Amino acid sequence: MKLVILGPPGAGKGTQADFIIKKYNIPHISTGDIFRENIKNNTELGKKAKAYMDKGLLVPDEVVIEIVQDRIVKDDCKDGFLLDGFPRTVAQAVSLDAELDKLGTKLDRVININVDQSILVDRAVGRRICKTCGATYHIKYNPPKVEGICDIDQTPLIQRDDDVKETVETRIQVYFDQTSPLIDYYHAQGLLLDIDGDQDIKKVFEDIVQGLNN
Ligand code: AP5
Ligand code: ZN
Repeated sequence: MKLVILGPPGAGKGTQADFIIKKYNIPHISTGDIFRENIKNNTELGKKAKAYMDKGLLVPDEVVIEIVQDRIVKDDCKDGFLLDGFPRTVAQAVSLDAELDKLGTKLDRVININVDQSILVDRAVGRRICKTCGATYHIKYNPPKVEGICDIDQTPLIQRDDDVKETVETRIQVYFDQTSPLIDYYHAQGLLLDIDGDQDIKKVFEDIVQGLNN
């Protein structure tokens, strides 16, 4: 299954992606994770991306498009993948369609996670992630068993640099200006699966599975 998961910052894309990739046995391609990995390893790409990410702005299309083009042609993507955080502009979506067309394939569905704008800041600011395994928690909505420690590998949790209130607000604004037009773009292609993301994490996943089965 070839899927895209769409939604504003803090909507729960990464959280749901973890469940979806396990259930459908497909690779998780998160452009945000790819950039964060490059920042951690201090690569040229990481340095370039960090300048935009720290401000809450989008990394330029040409940089992101090339990364995704190189990734989706890999063998493990033949039977499917989940794109998370890409596409984020109409130009990125058009390039993805063209690349898939070249490969003789197309997207199956686009999962659109809807969450009331008022809770997005709270979701992002309260997020904590494990530096070791990447697991995501929330101080109120999905706390680890021991405060500040990952349940899986017992290493400390950290806060993302772009999860401070002002930057989150910029990211939300950027989403509405540049990414939300993709809802119409994919709706017109009959691919959109609208999901209510303002529910318990497990219920959101149940709705996604039910939607994908229909
Ligand atoms: P990226 O890493 O893609 O971040 P984002 O889109 O801002 O999304 P988030 O990771 O913040 O949120 P999420 O929806 O995954 O939420 P999560 O599941 O963690 O991008 C970061 C930056 O990289 C961008 O700003 C940009 O600079 C750059 N970039 C990346 N891709 C790019 C592209 N294609 N083009 C250009 N630039 C690009 O959940 C959030 C919190 O809520 C967690 O704490 C979680 O535990 C909690 N939570 C989740 N679901 C629920 C629920 N149902 N109820 C209660 N709490 C919940
Ligand atoms: Zn961990």
